[in-house]
Amino acid sequence: MSQELHRSVLLREAVDALVTDPGGFYIDGTFGRGGHSAAILERLNEDGRLVGVDKDPQAIAYARERFANEKRFSIWHGSFADMDMAAADRAGQVTGILLDLGVSSPQLDQAERGFSFMQDGPLDMRMDTSRGISAAEWVNTEAEAELARVFKEYGEERFARRMAGAIVRRRAEKPFERTLDLAEVVKAANPAWEKGKHPATRVFQAIRIHVNGELDDLQQALDKSVQLLAPGGRLVVISFHSLEDRIVKRFIRDKERGPKLPRGLPVMDSQIVKTLRSVGKAVKADTVEVDENLRSRSAVMRVAEKLG
Ligand SMILES: C[S@@+](CC[C@H](N)C(=O)[O-])C[C@H]1O[C@@H](n2cnc3c(N)ncnc32)[C@H](O)[C@@H]1O
Repeated sequence: MSQELHRSVLLREAVDALVTDPGGFYIDGTFGRGGHSAAILERLNEDGRLVGVDKDPQAIAYARERFANEKRFSIWHGSFADMDMAAADRAGQVTGILLDLGVSSPQLDQAERGFSFMQDGPLDMRMDTSRGISAAEWVNTEAEAELARVFKEYGEERFARRMAGAIVRRRAEKPFERTLDLAEVVKAANPAWEKGKHPATRVFQAIRIHVNGELDDLQQALDKSVQLLAPGGRLVVISFHSLEDRIVKRFIRDKERGPKLPRGLPVMDSQIVKTLRSVGKAVKADTVEVDENLRSRSAVMRVAEKLG
């Protein structure tokens, strides 16, 4: 059992925005090491309920042990894209949903999980090690053009084609198995190293997002949150890069405006069905938190409320 800690980001801000009813029903879609879950449970009374969700079997094992005696809590293994299954028959009755996106510190810090370009480990990168294909299987078999597309789209990597070419040439001689092996090939193919940033950072981010289907899962979870939330219920999402934040921002904006209708239709504003209203502005970590936890530097939290 992994006991490494994860320092929760925007902990108080997220829980303040999420918990509107101490006797409500909540979903923590990204349990991790339970920092947010513990803080939510502290705010609930004995009628309150919390379901934790995580893709990672290690997070699930940790939750079972940590909250073994907590009757208000249960844990569900799977993607938050399927959180309607975790919430069973609670459609339209959920008081709050939290998504604290990305990877946890234990995932990044354990070399054997294969997320890091700094430590040598098997090239895996799956959050859910019980299913799906590993990063190694993907980089060793995917077409060059598709590798390049993923590096460009999910890594915003300027030299995506050059890096994909280098990977394809190298794998023809010897398939990739280890993280540092891949990091070295990408590093050598990168002609413009940025100060303070490992030259393989963007490619590793892109592979991680792709292998875990992160952006598709997020879009599905957002859609489901609207069906699950009760009127007045809150959706709180913490993103760590611009691709995620853009999806969240657009989603909230679109639900706030209601469906797009052709121009000139004789429809009154009161007839347009709007499902969410955004609550406050985007929240970022303050300097004290950033000094204590560098990971919080890129966090952006957005909050929306389900309309009745
Ligand atoms: C940033 S950590 C969450 C940390 C947590 N809030 C805490 O305080 O300990 C993100 C967690 O979400 C999980 N995760 C990421 N994407 C997921 C998805 N689509 N479905 C379920 N869990 C996911 C990861 O496995 C990881 O454990």
